[in-house]
Amino acid sequence: MRKPIIAGNWKMYKTISQAIELANGLKRELYKIDSQDIDIVLCPPFTALTEVGEVIYGSNLQLGAQDLHWEDEGAFTGEVSGLFLKDVGVKYVIIGHSERRQFFGETNASVNKKIKAALRNGLVPIVCVGENLKEREENKTFDVIRDHIENGLKDISQEDAFKLVIAYEPVWAIGTGKTATPSQAQEAQKFIRDLLSKMYNNSVAQDIRIQYGGSVKPENIAELIKQPDIDGALVGGASLKVDSFSAIVKNTLGAE
Ligand code: 13P
Repeated sequence: MRKPIIAGNWKMYKTISQAIELANGLKRELYKIDSQDIDIVLCPPFTALTEVGEVIYGSNLQLGAQDLHWEDEGAFTGEVSGLFLKDVGVKYVIIGHSERRQFFGETNASVNKKIKAALRNGLVPIVCVGENLKEREENKTFDVIRDHIENGLKDISQEDAFKLVIAYEPVWAIGTGKTATPSQAQEAQKFIRDLLSKMYNNSVAQDIRIQYGGSVKPENIAELIKQPDIDGALVGGASLKVDSFSAIVKNTLGAE
């Protein structure tokens, strides 16, 4: 049985004081939830990692970052490494988000190097994959997913593959209010699990958690999480408010 994982990707929102307020609110709202039942991850911007880490220290909430560099240190102006994320108490790191692929030149090759850097530093990679609208309309969804998974996970050993979280985020559903239907998400996520089974083996494929991301809301999480290959959510907009993010967490557990 895979443990559900709900992660909030705060993107480029929340100053330090706003981040502290949100983290405190979530801690208050979610304190009764047993961390044995669900992983809850907050991914604030780099600038607020330390303070959010302090607020949630010792609670059932865990700290995640939104990106990392593939080297541990060096002359890479403006970058943040896995070593430094570890240093501020980060446990998870989002890699290959579609916004990074679209606006910042992220490729499968850089995703691959970043996954290795995260693993080397003991961080759990949340690897994002998914097609855009044009690709879906041209029936290329599975080709794109296969490309992201096969090349993104190139040379990742079976032993390391167990540690990954995959997030299926169809680009056309991100920030648009247009959620993939539970059956569309399930179809893609089953495809991902079958692919992982071929690349590794069934036991690895059955262990890896696959999140859905794209306009997840308190109202749609229950139907999504009921799907056999959806093990959680990567939440953008709805993770920025205490009410909506805590309702998503609670509805995830309620639906099980
Ligand atoms: P929205 O939930 O705002 O659609 O964003 C999804 C996302 O990109 C999470 O990483």
